[in-house]
Amino acid sequence: MAKGLDIGTMNIICAEKDREDIVFTQQRNAFMELDSSDLTKTMLDISKVLYIERKNGISLLGEDAFKFATIFEKEARRPMTHGIISPKEKEAIPIMKLIVGTVLGEPKKQNEVLYISTPANPIDTDMNVLYHKKTMEMLTKGMKYDTHVIDEGLAVIYSELSESNFTGIGISVGAGMTNVTLAYLATPLMSFSIARGGDWIDEQAAKSTGMPKEHVTATKEKVSKLGKDVKMGSVEGALTVYYDALITYIIRNLDRKLSEITPPKVAFPVAIAGGSAQPEGFFELFEKRLREANLRVDLAKIKYVKDPILSVARGCLIAARTQEEKGKQELKQSQTQTQTKPVPKKKK
Ligand SMILES: Nc1ncnc2c1ncn2[C@@H]1O[C@H](COP(=O)(O)OP(=O)(O)OP(=O)(O)O)[C@@H](O)[C@H]1O
Ligand SMILES: [Mg+2]
Repeated sequence: MAKGLDIGTMNIICAEKDREDIVFTQQRNAFMELDSSDLTKTMLDISKVLYIERKNGISLLGEDAFKFATIFEKEARRPMTHGIISPKEKEAIPIMKLIVGTVLGEPKKQNEVLYISTPANPIDTDMNVLYHKKTMEMLTKGMKYDTHVIDEGLAVIYSELSESNFTGIGISVGAGMTNVTLAYLATPLMSFSIARGGDWIDEQAAKSTGMPKEHVTATKEKVSKLGKDVKMGSVEGALTVYYDALITYIIRNLDRKLSEITPPKVAFPVAIAGGSAQPEGFFELFEKRLREANLRVDLAKIKYVKDPILSVARGCLIAARTQEEKGKQELKQSQTQTQTKPVPKKKK
């Protein structure tokens, strides 16, 4: 049994196969500290809230941290920022270890193959993803998985572009980042990220309308509609403006990076995934801006992705299953080779 794990700024999602279906397990990548007096342990146990006890209180983890943050009017803390471990959050690694542990569970066999997603290096900040990548690799290896790492954009290609033999452009518009990969027959020719995603949209829309960021995020996730018929001056209006700005920024950077490579002369299909690709009207807007941009490569179809928030985890699972199959075949081959090895004749 192989597994795929999408480790994101907002969500940690595991994908595994159960007979013919893919099962997803998801948690928010967030936590919140409470004093012991705020809530009793019994209450938390009854309501099956995910938490750990600390010296001076309790830390709520995942989805529950978000829910209780609104109730207690506190801010949920986030172990990651802009796609990588937050340097400002001293609890980041132990908290992520717990959340990853609950989402992933124990391996079902020794050295179970696991593919985890990692962002590509950003081109618009001087952040480096190496430390994050190595830490997550070590963390999951410590849980006895045979961990491999895959670029987030390539995971989208694995998930969505099998019909074109994994040739195409995969884009994941997440919370802290947007990741882009161009691959030819599953080989990445270009991967990059930009440090803007849903969080950037929320921050800008909050600043422009004077609304708290949490309110903007909640409106965005509930209403999720972009287009001309939204009321200007409203949060929805601001969201439409900044969604358009983000899309234009992604495409401009894509074109810039394309000028640095010489891709084969084929038409590339495009798949756009990630949680921020969910609002109604997003796909149409992206397709329109992409066609208008007249990129320096030919584009085939722009694929509509169903459940875009699950796409990266699904791609990681496909990579893991392919690796598992390869491992089995190699083992079979080495066994047949040993069996058919000629036995040297004994000297008389
Ligand atoms: N229905 C929705 N409409 C619009 N945006 C949404 C919706 N649901 C979630 N989002 C946004 O999607 C983003 C989370 O997406 P995703 O899970 O792909 O990100 P992530 O993988 O955690 O982050 P990253 O890849 O940047 O590290 C958040 O900004 C969230 O607010
Ligand atoms: Mg992501």
